[in-house]
Amino acid sequence: MVKLFKSSRPALKKLGAEEIAVEMSELSVYYGKKIVLDNISMVIPKHRITSLIGQSGCGKTTLISSMNRMNDLNKNHRCTGSVIIDGQNIHNKKVNVAKLRTQVGMVFQTPNPFPMSIYDNVAFGLRLQKEIPRRQLDEAVERALKSAVLWDEVKDQLFASAAILSGGQQQRLMIARALALKPKILLLDEPTSALDPLATLHIEELMQSLKKTTTIVMITHNMQQAARLSDYTAFFHQGELVEYADSDKLFTQPKHKQTEDYITGRYG
Ligand SMILES: Nc1ncnc2c1ncn2[C@@H]1O[C@H](COP(=O)(O)OP(=O)(O)O)[C@@H](O)[C@H]1O
Ligand SMILES: [Mg+2]
Repeated sequence: MVKLFKSSRPALKKLGAEEIAVEMSELSVYYGKKIVLDNISMVIPKHRITSLIGQSGCGKTTLISSMNRMNDLNKNHRCTGSVIIDGQNIHNKKVNVAKLRTQVGMVFQTPNPFPMSIYDNVAFGLRLQKEIPRRQLDEAVERALKSAVLWDEVKDQLFASAAILSGGQQQRLMIARALALKPKILLLDEPTSALDPLATLHIEELMQSLKKTTTIVMITHNMQQAARLSDYTAFFHQGELVEYADSDKLFTQPKHKQTEDYITGRYG
């Protein structure tokens, strides 16, 4: 169906503990009385790209939000089961949520730069953490913008408003803002859905290069993108994890009829 890739990544079943970034066990999430994720058990492999696919409303955003407790912001929300990162159940009340969110960064579908300069957008999280000498902050901002492959385009206008950037540049700025905190895990919620093909290509290349240092979980509605870019893909339907496999396998030999129907565009 689409261009696939060969790689030497291990099959999911064979992952050792040191190869796992996130381990979810029997995770269920409710909004009020409504169950939106039903008993999800899955692992997210370290330093790989994992795609989450499925119809709108099937629970993808809820799932990534439960990896950095973004769900906490919703009073109506309740969850059971566990999400283990670095040996710790992050849903434990004692977890330092601010610290967790620096380690598990999140980028949303629509770029939301703060109304401030490009520099200040990237420095924002670092300044919240602690006071940093200017020189060190300059270096951190430069490093993050370089990692997000935006540096060359903005280095002469760091103190201009972020609003002057194009959509694709703003999305890379959002990634730079997250990367400045050196997250171990980066959650991307439909990061290219608002972008044109060239900007999308930039983000995809960026994700490939980030894989060396960061675990990436991406939600996408673009099947070609999931197949092309991600090592593993998980298909969700109405709050259930239907199928989770190597991307090349899931897209060429889906085991379940529901998966096949979805990836061939029969619904969704
Ligand atoms: N804050 C909320 N309060 C109540 N219901 C919500 C809230 N956020 C999402 N939902 C519901 O939870 C389900 C899953 O939503 P979501 O995780 O956003 O799905 P997806 O990202 O796959 O489109 C949907 O039925 C949605 O209406
Ligand atoms: Mg969503």
